Amino acid sequence: MTDAERTVREREDTDLPELAAVLRGVYAADGYPVEGIADPPAWLEHPHAIQHWTAVVDGTPVGQVTLAEAHPDDDAARAWVEHTGGSVTDIAVMARLFVDPQHRGQGLADRLILALRHHAHLLGRAVVFDVMAKDTAAVRLYDRSGAERIAEVTHRFNDGLTEPALVYAFPEPRGAG
Ligand SMILES: CC(C)(COP(=O)(O)OP(=O)(O)OC[C@H]1O[C@@H](n2cnc3c(N)ncnc32)[C@H](O)[C@@H]1OP(=O)(O)O)[C@@H](O)C(=O)NCCC(=O)NCCS
Repeated sequence: MTDAERTVREREDTDLPELAAVLRGVYAADGYPVEGIADPPAWLEHPHAIQHWTAVVDGTPVGQVTLAEAHPDDDAARAWVEHTGGSVTDIAVMARLFVDPQHRGQGLADRLILALRHHAHLLGRAVVFDVMAKDTAAVRLYDRSGAERIAEVTHRFNDGLTEPALVYAFPEPRGAG
């Protein structure tokens, strides 16, 4: 048996059907995202996306991440502005990170995050994001990856539901822009 070929590249539109199927499995396994996934392809098309990346194993999309413009009403953006006194135009938001449960623990999320951080660095933006405290694999990953935990917040969703969440930021890019 040969080793699987694992790559991370910019997302292509043709990845969407497979990523939507992966997302259904992630929701069944992990309850991510908490809002539910009534329409996976629509959820994957983040309304403020800057760029998306796909993790591919032996030619098959198995996970993804999105870098998006920050908006003042995002939990993560609001916490970052309060924490630093900076402007939302200095940051971009990491969102929609997931990996197929069958392909976890192989560094794919690490590689997706690295690609996203590199792009944000080229744009001269710091990367901020939030994570539900219950998503413990993600929290471990972020704590290990050098991200700074800057706030604990309450994520409000689906007309009245709440979930404890943590906000992180990667250190600001130096000399970028
Ligand atoms: C969080 C998530 C994206 C991580 O994906 P992943 O590809 O398994 O992450 P990685 O492989 O990069 O790292 C996970 C673990 O594998 C380990 N690992 C990384 N590379 C490895 C390798 N080559 N061999 C063995 N283990 C490895 C890491 O050390 C890490 O260990 P930890 O669990 O002690 O932190 C995935 O669990 C997921 O999709 N969760 C549900 C959705 C979610 O919560 N998304 C986050 C939203 S904010």
